[in-house]
Amino acid sequence: MTTELSPADKAKFVAAKRAVEFVESGMRVGLGTGSTAAWMVRLLGQRVREEGLKIVGVATSSQTAALAGREGIEVVSLDEARWLDLTIDGADEFDPDLNLIKGGGGALLREKIVATASDQMIVITDASKEVAHLGAFPLPVEVIPFGWQTSKALIEEMLVSLDVMGREVSLRMNGEAPFVTDEGNRILDLRLGRIGNPHQMAMVLNQVPGVVENGLFMDICDRVIVGHGDGRVETRDIHSGEVETRLFDFEEPDNLFADLGR
Ligand code: A5P
Repeated sequence: MTTELSPADKAKFVAAKRAVEFVESGMRVGLGTGSTAAWMVRLLGQRVREEGLKIVGVATSSQTAALAGREGIEVVSLDEARWLDLTIDGADEFDPDLNLIKGGGGALLREKIVATASDQMIVITDASKEVAHLGAFPLPVEVIPFGWQTSKALIEEMLVSLDVMGREVSLRMNGEAPFVTDEGNRILDLRLGRIGNPHQMAMVLNQVPGVVENGLFMDICDRVIVGHGDGRVETRDIHSGEVETRLFDFEEPDNLFADLGR
């Protein structure tokens, strides 16, 4: 069976395919969350099954843990792994310094802990996520349920003195009910338009009582791998400044594409 993928899915797939080449036997690997990271987990599972790649994974969400388990990847807790060699994850936006907005899928807290506990973080993405300035994507902020409206009001007050274009803050919903994170918390989405000073924003947000973490990943990402719908993949290294371009052929292995919707 051959399933036709959209150009956006092809872009995510080839970015994930390049990223799993960085994984070697013996590594402890952080497994990201989202549709791009799901391709990476499937491709990693394929390497485990077909090449006998020996790795352990630390999942950034219950969703990823379930997928990794189905793919035959051994999943351990971060406390068991302690430190990771590499984390591969998606992003909602990245800027020229490879700073990120993450948390569109609501997993930003575990994602930031796991990425920060890794020697290297590779972000896999399609070209639509690249921006000159962070902030067009609503910035997710995880808050505890107790007094979340007070935390929201404090954030709104704080935003008045910061360099942003918009200041709308809303509680993320899941249908009629508030969205609940894996840690049992809530997400506030901050529509800021453009964040003038993301380093400052990341620091001050975490000073607000009730805020657990925010979706700005500053100086954490080492490489970004940008996939394109025609099979081109660009790998940018923030440390060396090198940019590698490769072209992947589109083979559509039945076992991967048949499972697209799961
Ligand atoms: C999950 O909380 C996010 O940080 C994701 O990494 C991000 O939303 C990217 O997701 P997609 O790969 O589905 O675009």
